[in-house]
Amino acid sequence: MQLSVIGCGYLGAVHAASMASLGHTVVGIDVDEAKIAKLAAGEPPFHEPGLVDVLKDGLASGRLTFSTDYSDLADAEVHFIGVGTPQRSGAQGADMTYVNAATDAILEHAKPGSLIAGKSTVPVGTAARLTELAATKGVRLAWNPEFLREGFAIKDTVDPDRLVYGVTDATRDEDTATLDNVYATILDRGTPRLVTNQPTAELVKVAANSFLATKISFINAMAEISEVTGADVTQLADAIGHDERIGRKFLNAGVGFGGGCLPKDIRAFTARAEELGKGESVAFLKQVDEINLRRRQRVVDLVVDSFDGQVFGHRVTVLGLAFKPDSDDIRDSPALDVAVRLKGLGAEVVSYDPEAMDTARRAHPQLNYADSLETALDGSEAVVVVTEWKQFKALDPAETLAKVARPVIFDGRNILDPAAWRDAGWTYTGMGR
Ligand code: UGA
Repeated sequence: MQLSVIGCGYLGAVHAASMASLGHTVVGIDVDEAKIAKLAAGEPPFHEPGLVDVLKDGLASGRLTFSTDYSDLADAEVHFIGVGTPQRSGAQGADMTYVNAATDAILEHAKPGSLIAGKSTVPVGTAARLTELAATKGVRLAWNPEFLREGFAIKDTVDPDRLVYGVTDATRDEDTATLDNVYATILDRGTPRLVTNQPTAELVKVAANSFLATKISFINAMAEISEVTGADVTQLADAIGHDERIGRKFLNAGVGFGGGCLPKDIRAFTARAEELGKGESVAFLKQVDEINLRRRQRVVDLVVDSFDGQVFGHRVTVLGLAFKPDSDDIRDSPALDVAVRLKGLGAEVVSYDPEAMDTARRAHPQLNYADSLETALDGSEAVVVVTEWKQFKALDPAETLAKVARPVIFDGRNILDPAAWRDAGWTYTGMGR
């Protein structure tokens, strides 16, 4: 099929390249000329395992192209909207500027009878509004939310857990048939596909992310209680996780969740529920957010306490800047936040991350960035692990001890073996254990 993908950020670039890998002819469109130039040259503008290969294969096949010119979407049968819906500055709700602009641009060039498939995470009710607008040009619109995780983006796109099509009664059969054609290879594998109305599809996405955020904050709340009772939250998570109804996944306590999705999605959902007069239904999400933000401060407090309340001038190594491993994404990153807060208190912070140094440096040039893990550890008076990179998990306590000035470590992700570090002579502190 001929497809267009509007917005070539995380979601869009991955979607465009993945759809080409399924055999479609795809044009990815974005207003950012630098981003398009990189993609067209086969260089992903962000770190995502496997993307470079899918991108290069797509470009070599001639079925994947990139453009800044919206008129290039004119031949496409389906137009995917994959632009961002960031948090509005100074407010909790989602900024819909890019979705609205993308829809207008598509409608200027799309052929009648084509289908817009919205993938961006939007406030419930958006699809209904845009469907009316599209109908004036004879274009159909469905909502087809995306559930990819950074670090697993290609796999999650070409082999997702489920597909969701949010359609209107009027065009249900046509839209379903079109999307089934797009995803034929995926459906052949037996992937569950749910056809819903549009509000359901929009809500599925924010409900999923709200649930995940709640699960993380739940275990972090248990970490807070563990800290005052002497319990170990990691063992607690293992024990409750054996109950299949609960499950062990997403029960890792630590500095909490960040990234471009979970934090802004729970805030936008709260704002939308309040607009709908149902703020009380999701009022708990405010607490989920608060618990999450408290965990960042908790690590900072632990570090400061270890210097008897005065961290000023002390050399603190912060290991990790990305919001999660296998990513260079620092949006709302707890790791970066911890580094910035410690720096703000006058600590001599030295940061290191295997992938996110450049993105972090651009956002926070005031921080000190070490060019290697070894340099970061050299002469350190406190080591703080805040992103669960495998390089940090693999650190050897004895070898690391030889590099630092004071063997004090804070395991903000509970990824180290406390006994091994203590036996090697370290003062080890985890989160809720
Ligand atoms: C999240 C969802 O997991 C995806 O399903 C969704 O498609 C995506 O948002 C989106 O809306 O686009 P992602 O932002 O890539 O994906 O990150 P997650 O893997 O969900 O991790 C989010 C944060 O939670 C990270 O900072 C991670 O370190 C933290 N986390 C995760 C924990 O603190 N504890 C856990 O047990 C799990």
